Amino acid sequence: MNLYERIPNNVNLSEDKRLQRALEKWLPNFLAWWHDMGPEGFQEKDVWLRTAIDVGSEGWAHFDYVKMPEYRWGIFLEPAQPDAKVGFGDNYGAPAYQEVPGEFRNALRRIIVTQGDTEPASVEQQRRLGATCPSLYDLRNLFRVNVEECCHLWAMVYLLHAYFGRDGRDEADALLERRSGNPDKPRILEAFNQPCDDWLNFYAFTMFTDRDGKYQLSALAESGFEPLARTCKFMLTEEAHHMFVGDTGLSRVVKRTAQLMNENEDVRKVGGIPLDIIQKYINFWFSYSLDLFGGEISSNSADFFAAGLKGRFKEQEQYTDHIATEGSFTMTVVENGKLVPREVPLRNALNEVLRGEYVKDCEKGLARWNKALADEGRSERLFLPNIRFHRHVGEYAGHSFDLEGNLISKEEFAAKQSEWLPTVRDREYVGSLMKPVTEVGKIANWIAPPTSGIKGKPFEFEYVRL
Ligand SMILES: [Fe+2]
Ligand SMILES: [Fe+2]
Repeated sequence: MNLYERIPNNVNLSEDKRLQRALEKWLPNFLAWWHDMGPEGFQEKDVWLRTAIDVGSEGWAHFDYVKMPEYRWGIFLEPAQPDAKVGFGDNYGAPAYQEVPGEFRNALRRIIVTQGDTEPASVEQQRRLGATCPSLYDLRNLFRVNVEECCHLWAMVYLLHAYFGRDGRDEADALLERRSGNPDKPRILEAFNQPCDDWLNFYAFTMFTDRDGKYQLSALAESGFEPLARTCKFMLTEEAHHMFVGDTGLSRVVKRTAQLMNENEDVRKVGGIPLDIIQKYINFWFSYSLDLFGGEISSNSADFFAAGLKGRFKEQEQYTDHIATEGSFTMTVVENGKLVPREVPLRNALNEVLRGEYVKDCEKGLARWNKALADEGRSERLFLPNIRFHRHVGEYAGHSFDLEGNLISKEEFAAKQSEWLPTVRDREYVGSLMKPVTEVGKIANWIAPPTSGIKGKPFEFEYVRL
């Protein structure tokens, strides 16, 4: 591993001078973007981060103080498997592709660009959160998520530069030009243009939206295009921490809300976040994150599976039939103003299959939060809205549904919207609670402390030296 080159890497970058030069040209643009659009403030502060000293799992488990702009961003892929095979689709069992298969070049580039675009987008969405952190522990977690998303950006930029020639270089530049929420040059996916400007949004985002990343990356981690598979495997190890931040963050908010409700049923009076606002944030981020899986019925998903490029979640572990030409999937669609079942060939339903895995995973989070409520002696419960609720992509876009997934009219939806989705007043209230707490070992009133710190350190540790 070449950790002390200008671009740290384990892909022998110095042996490919053209690629190295191209990436070295991109590097200052990346740093300029980080300067403009990365976390606001704190750039000179020591943050206790996980940094690379080696690509093996041990090497990544190295924790130390780092100033964010000095973080070792670079290119790290899982080691190559010399006898890797295409694991599914029409070319099942053939040697894995080391180059981009010609007929899928555009589609594959699109996948990589779309994934790559989400990485800097989330950093942009979260850039002002440092100023209102509930604790140093949370502040540190925010910054770790931010620097790691930039690692993922680097990974995608490497693939674009290394395998897509001139178009790839242009796309890599464009990744630094789009801006989250900017109407003139928005990020590609809508979830990544939504404001994430308070910590409840941050936890919901890392719980639901980063979790979409887990499923997309898992489906690509078994790709027959080996460089992509190796990159995604590596990114997945980092995504796990982001989801941990969201899942436990929401759990801590719910727990604290329950404690405050036991003091005063009107938690606003004691500075807590009401459960109905938490539910609305769940409804918002869950529904936007469902859109990220794409249309329910998709010929793209069929083509990608056939080509061996994008599989199912845990394709090798969970399935025995890796061809999937037989069988169908029944889904519910809207036809003539009614919900009806429709049989779809399995390969065309793979977005929905992946979405189903994601929903199961989200439900586990809900169970944990509801346990937090039960542990405090509360009978209220949180839930996931139906997958049809508030969708902007796929079969359900353009129709209105209630939280249970019943088809309703646009007018009925409009009348209920303020009960189902965060209102300006909800956001203002949550915003009013966001006052920074930066004393070692202290925490904001609206959230419970974590049950343990990071990597053996207690919660009372100076995770960021201010
Ligand atoms: Fe990421
Ligand atoms: Fe992430």
